[in-house]
Amino acid sequence: MTDPRYALRDASELLSPGLLIYRGLVRQNLQDMIAMARGADRLRPHVKTHKMAEIVRMAEGMGIRKHKCATIAEAEMVAAAGGTDALLAYPLVGPNVKRFTHLVRGYRSTSFRATVDHPDAARALSAAAAGLDRPVPVLVDLDIGMGRTGIDPGEPAAELYALIDRLPNLRVDGLHAYDGQIHDSDLEARRQTAQAGMERALALRDRLLKRGLDVPRMVVGGTPTSPIHAELDLPGLECSPGTIVLQDDGYARRYPDLPFTPAALLLTRVVSHPRPGRLCLDLGHKAVAADPAGARARVLGLDDARPVVHSEEHLVLETPAAASFPIGTPLLAIPTHICPTVALHRRVSVIEDGEVVGQWEVTARDRVLGV
Ligand SMILES: Cc1ncc(COP(=O)(O)O)c(C=O)c1O
Repeated sequence: MTDPRYALRDASELLSPGLLIYRGLVRQNLQDMIAMARGADRLRPHVKTHKMAEIVRMAEGMGIRKHKCATIAEAEMVAAAGGTDALLAYPLVGPNVKRFTHLVRGYRSTSFRATVDHPDAARALSAAAAGLDRPVPVLVDLDIGMGRTGIDPGEPAAELYALIDRLPNLRVDGLHAYDGQIHDSDLEARRQTAQAGMERALALRDRLLKRGLDVPRMVVGGTPTSPIHAELDLPGLECSPGTIVLQDDGYARRYPDLPFTPAALLLTRVVSHPRPGRLCLDLGHKAVAADPAGARARVLGLDDARPVVHSEEHLVLETPAAASFPIGTPLLAIPTHICPTVALHRRVSVIEDGEVVGQWEVTARDRVLGV
């Protein structure tokens, strides 16, 4: 635990496995994100990474008033935390259509926006929104290469946009284009692919504007492509990175061009020395995400250790240094993938200047809050 950024004066009373949030580093990451986007109003960070009301409030306090969500619970968490604007960028189906309208009714000081990628979904939302005192702002979700959700940004997308404009209880609000398939480490390679996708989205925007339709916003990108999209001077541009609020070891290794610092670390302890050259930590896959394949975390001070067993409550590492870590030794680990790791923890300990200064709830790890 020699990295001064991760000072922790006394771990003796902290439970392991547990998640620690270094508050100063979160603040710094948000500041760097604002600089990257060239303005807080050009940002709509995805809250799925942290799922915490306290981080929504921190972001709002720094001028970030727009948030992206993947679940109704995340949107409700944002609203309950006093968030100004929550975009639910996930297809609304089944009972979630009605739950969304309950949010609009229940949290009057938050603006809720939805995405749609099919005429049937637009009609269902229009019908469910009858009786609301304000139209629901709707963005058309575009598939610009990921092939996960979204509609190809050709003529059917323009027709869908025009349909939303005609339907009662809805209001056209722009385009959503997430390019999460782009993973090139090399910034130039990433730029080329990201710009090609974005050009298709921009061509659709031009076509809609020529038809006299309003396109107030373009919500684009995740962490890898946000710095590229942020180079655009486009009215209504909103970059929507998620991971870098907390940053993780996977992204830190893959995107060395990004100036973000891991701010959420796991506290773990050595629980056994099963064989010479082996350490067992209390860091199973109920405490650290089981994806991606390979190392699930980088244990500070044990960077070269090789993971050999990962079960529900155990992580076994092989290292020639095993004997120098006695049973009970506390260690810090940077998760490879922070977003699903956060969702494994109900509460996190907040660290500032090496001290534990509080606990935050991971509110939106639950699927249902109030509605
Ligand atoms: C729709 C959408 N937008 C934004 C993001 C944020 O991406 P990242 O975690 O790479 O910052 C995600 C991540 O899953 C996403 O699904």
